[in-house]
Amino acid sequence: MQFTDEQLAQYEADGAVTIDSPFTEQELDRAEAAWDRLQQSGDAPYNDPDYVDVIQHPFFEEVARKVLRAEAVHLWWGLAPHARPPSDAPYGSVRDQWGAGCHTDIQATMEDFTASPRRMRAELWFWLNDVPVNRGAMRILPGSHRPIMEHWSRVLTPEQKKMLPRVHGLRPSNVSEKAPAYPEHVPDLQDTPWIEQEPTAAVARRGQILILCSAGMHSAWQNEDNVPRKGMGTAWVAEGVACGLPKNQREGLMDFFPRLGSKLRPERAHIVPSDFDWLFESDYEPKWPETFLPE
Ligand SMILES: [Fe+2]
Repeated sequence: MQFTDEQLAQYEADGAVTIDSPFTEQELDRAEAAWDRLQQSGDAPYNDPDYVDVIQHPFFEEVARKVLRAEAVHLWWGLAPHARPPSDAPYGSVRDQWGAGCHTDIQATMEDFTASPRRMRAELWFWLNDVPVNRGAMRILPGSHRPIMEHWSRVLTPEQKKMLPRVHGLRPSNVSEKAPAYPEHVPDLQDTPWIEQEPTAAVARRGQILILCSAGMHSAWQNEDNVPRKGMGTAWVAEGVACGLPKNQREGLMDFFPRLGSKLRPERAHIVPSDFDWLFESDYEPKWPETFLPE
């Protein structure tokens, strides 16, 4: 197993770690060619057998089981071919980009994160080409997931906590004026406001996997290179853990999961769940007043 206990400890402490995968150069060439084809055609990714072969590789499931401390896991989201194309100059400063882009995606409490199985979305970003710092490497604020989840542990009601983990994008309240704030926000919890902190670039080599806990602050970044950053974004959850998605995402998932499932080899078909009992709808309405606490 190329995912060590030390790397798991780093994921728990930082909310992010990059690990090696067992894919060979030949397999990566095949996967990258499929990614290129899908980017060109705009086809649904489950229609490309070479691309489906990546997601059904047992390694991702194995990694997700270890991240989530779970006997069994299944996909929580798909296999989107994720491009970060070259950006047009001039490029924003670190402060501009971080201030405009930093956000969290998953809302969960510290009890969710420390439970076994872990009630969290395991986000595995598989890189199909190198991710040097200037090629739109994602920026992450290591360790920010912990005070943010502790905050949700403190302020949310028991009823609300039953609706976690959920995908619920939140930004700091004082985002740059270039970015629209979400209807709710993550308050500043440390001496230095979130948007003034220094993020880390999640650099990687081709074939590596970024394991991300998006309950912490992170941001997309401009690509100052002349080739796109090529990624496959996948997300997993432990069997038996209920999770929330906004209505449109939930409907999208319920539409494409059976299609993806039908393309998998029989012995790999279990990575797509056979029902959606685990997936509830969770939107910005009704609002939770607890997420509007004064700074
Ligand atoms: Fe995000």
